[in-house]
Amino acid sequence: MRLAPTKKGSTDPNADAAHAADLTHGARHVAIIMDGNGRWAKKKHLPRALGHKKGVEAVRNIVRVAGEMGIEALTLYAFSSENWSRPADEITDLMGLLRQYIQSDIDEFDENGIRLKVIGNYKALDKDIVQLIDNALERTASNDRMTLAIALNYGAQDEMLRAVQAIATAVKKGDVEPEQINISHMSGALDTAELPPLDLLIRTSGELRLSNFLLWQAAYSELYFTDVLWPDFDKRELQRALQSFGARERRFGGR
Ligand code: FPP
Repeated sequence: MRLAPTKKGSTDPNADAAHAADLTHGARHVAIIMDGNGRWAKKKHLPRALGHKKGVEAVRNIVRVAGEMGIEALTLYAFSSENWSRPADEITDLMGLLRQYIQSDIDEFDENGIRLKVIGNYKALDKDIVQLIDNALERTASNDRMTLAIALNYGAQDEMLRAVQAIATAVKKGDVEPEQINISHMSGALDTAELPPLDLLIRTSGELRLSNFLLWQAAYSELYFTDVLWPDFDKRELQRALQSFGARERRFGGR
């Protein structure tokens, strides 16, 4: 499915930008902790695997909707570095869904100007998935409508450790003095380096935790928690979250 143009018939790029700002309430980068697939399935007396399958449908829909709205970057927490502790069959199901999703949606990413990005240590996943991801990253690298960043084998503490290691290596090489290290060095060494600052972090399913997701990036982002389970999270729910974001006063520590 091809995304609708941001404003029908518009030839004025400023009008498009203004239209996008209306829909997104100014949020450029939105991240989502997609929680509640298991509970969604349980409520319906279905196997957990079907909850995850419905979760992928919700992913597909929200990626389309976010692209249409004009969100610049959407970061989705698909598999955490702690999710390896789940039963092996569930991990197999999740990896199977990931494979299928990339294979089936890559053409649509390209058609709709979606650039894929992966955050987290994805090289530790199965070889064939790493290959699929690398191909998709390369193929979509010049798309510029929206960046879809999928967090895979991601943990914020691990991401920050890797960033600190990279900075320590730069110090060792004499490229930077320890006392010169600043916030930009750190932001620039994280997996999210070239994404816009995180504006809004959404978590579904009623849990009030960040679960090791984007801990550095969330320093001044707005947080939005909803009881809606991930498979039920749709365009209306995203609009609600963005409206709530738009109504907040962001002070970034100032007055
Ligand atoms: C939380 O549900 C969901 C996850 C483990 C991550 C989200 C995964 C998907 C939406 C499917 C795969 C994603 C892609 C991009 C292909 P849960 O199992 O923790 O739910 P529960 O807390 O209700 O048990």
